[in-house]
Amino acid sequence: MNTKYNALFEPFTFKSGVTIDNRLIMAPMTTNSAFENGMVTTDEHNYYKRRAKGLGAVITACAQVREDGKFAGSLSAASDMHIESLAKLAQTIQSAGTKAILQLFHVGRMGSSSTLRGLQPVSASPIPSLRDGAETPRALRDEEIHDLVDSFGKATKRAIEAGFDGVEIHGANTYLIQQFFSPHSNRRDDHWGGTLEKRMNFPLAVVDEVKTVVEKHAKKPFVLGYRISPEEIEEPGITFDDTLALLERINERDLDYIHISLGHYMQGSMRNPENKTPLLQTIVEKIGSDTPIIGVGSVHTPDNALEAMEAFNLPLVALGRQLLVEPDWIEKVKTGKEDTIRKEIHPDDREDLVFPDAMWEYVQSRPGWVPFAKSGH
Ligand SMILES: Cc1cc2nc3c(=O)[nH]c(=O)nc-3n(C[C@H](O)[C@H](O)[C@H](O)COP(=O)(O)O)c2cc1C
Repeated sequence: MNTKYNALFEPFTFKSGVTIDNRLIMAPMTTNSAFENGMVTTDEHNYYKRRAKGLGAVITACAQVREDGKFAGSLSAASDMHIESLAKLAQTIQSAGTKAILQLFHVGRMGSSSTLRGLQPVSASPIPSLRDGAETPRALRDEEIHDLVDSFGKATKRAIEAGFDGVEIHGANTYLIQQFFSPHSNRRDDHWGGTLEKRMNFPLAVVDEVKTVVEKHAKKPFVLGYRISPEEIEEPGITFDDTLALLERINERDLDYIHISLGHYMQGSMRNPENKTPLLQTIVEKIGSDTPIIGVGSVHTPDNALEAMEAFNLPLVALGRQLLVEPDWIEKVKTGKEDTIRKEIHPDDREDLVFPDAMWEYVQSRPGWVPFAKSGH
């Protein structure tokens, strides 16, 4: 291996005591390929097996904490019935020598009644998202919100029982936790909304509940992370200042990491494009000395990973799409073959890349999202 990449391959120990072999993490990516009842399919096992080796940790596709929080083909951690299936997923990842972190989410208003068997999606307030075809959700009642917080705790207990090394609370990418924090989707005027402070109440209640469950039930060190999207483009929408305020509160909770969901690790503000300071830089300056930050977004080469780490003093970097395109990324970097890292998906490579069929279709449904070559080799 080129010695300049040594820094990528140094072990890292989280506050909880979990040690990972290196600084490279697989970003959570939904496969759309779980069974209808949320159980893990063989296709998904094969997909993770193909990619897990050599990484520090794999963060799984998001798993719903309640059945009314799913989308088509999402994993489930919503009932005890799922523990055995989740345990096999943890083992698939761990048998490659890699730590397994289960991402927990609820879809909220991004769900659709067709996937929810006729149920109306739920959210903080009855405001549809701005995407085409979005349904108007039903506002959750106060007791339902308490119940949902509890569901995140129960799903965490299942992750512990299934043998995972940690959970990541999915507070990003427009799903329910973010919907409570967002002034676009949260127009409530009770304990859960109305002011910036109150919009923080749901995300923080989830963090507190999950933390309590980990402290109570984990018999070995267990990672607790939180994923956040720093801004929304909606008006009103989450501003970067809102996010910094929430991050300070999460920071007080002493988590193992905070994962900043960005399209590019160098990204500046979407809402204030004239301010070119990368968001990651500001976040690391504010809380990075207390809580390790995972950077993500368009890391393709080991030089990108190194740049992200060095520019912002980041301890950890996650790769998403690049591991879809090149499952041998780690191996190639470790053996000095980084020049042969694939940059796009060739249809001929479909078998080698071990894509679940539904995921193969899904990643091509948004042109330009995942790089596909036009034809074969
Ligand atoms: C196919 C696909 C599925 C994704 N599913 C999830 C998910 O389940 N949870 C999540 O937090 N992010 C999800 N993401 C976002 C990625 O984790 C990552 O943040 C994003 O792709 C940017 O990183 P990248 O440029 O390395 O791909 C998904 C991305 C892709 C491409």
